[in-house]
Amino acid sequence: MIDGFLGTRASFMLDFVFLAMFLVLPVMAFSIWLVKRGHYLWHKRVQVVLGLVLLVAVTAFEVDVRWSEYKGIPWSQRAFPAPEAARAIVYQVLYVHLFFAVSTSLLWVYVIVQALRKFDSIPTPNAYSPKHKFLAWLAAADMTLTACTGWVFYYLAFVA
Ligand code: HEM
Repeated sequence: MIDGFLGTRASFMLDFVFLAMFLVLPVMAFSIWLVKRGHYLWHKRVQVVLGLVLLVAVTAFEVDVRWSEYKGIPWSQRAFPAPEAARAIVYQVLYVHLFFAVSTSLLWVYVIVQALRKFDSIPTPNAYSPKHKFLAWLAAADMTLTACTGWVFYYLAFVA
């Protein structure tokens, strides 16, 4: 794990993902703003690109974390010495974060694949709309919670 660039104990990839999430949420919000104004094709384009970018980022991040564990320098070595008292809470926050992160990954793939299948290639509202709206709002909320819990984890593990 190469050292990060934010001046904390985190690695380069952790810093990168930490910052990237500040971009992902506004882009997602912009995409929902677009669809609410009837710009369905732009909504599709933004969501598909965002989905692909996230797929690449998550894969690179996972490889980095697993590789560093394989090399015997796990993230926890960077995280601690965080204050001893923070140790338990860091793991609790991590498990909550992982719950949202894993469910978000699965839900995003499902929402995008289903939307691509059930809407026309130039998408407009149709019979699939109610289901898409329900799942897509869930996916957006899941992503928001993934980012928020990720930021809390980053702070507790690598800053505090
Ligand atoms: C994870 C990816 C996606 C998310 C988070 C997402 C999010 C949303 C949300 C929150 C809405 C409802 C907005 C409202 O309440 O009015 C919506 C509507 C819509 N989305 Fe997506 N979307 C995603 C992917 C896609 C894709 C890939 C397509 C096209 C293939 C698409 C096409 C549409 C359409 C046509 C609507 C309008 C439905 C209607 O108003 O009847 N979405 N999307």
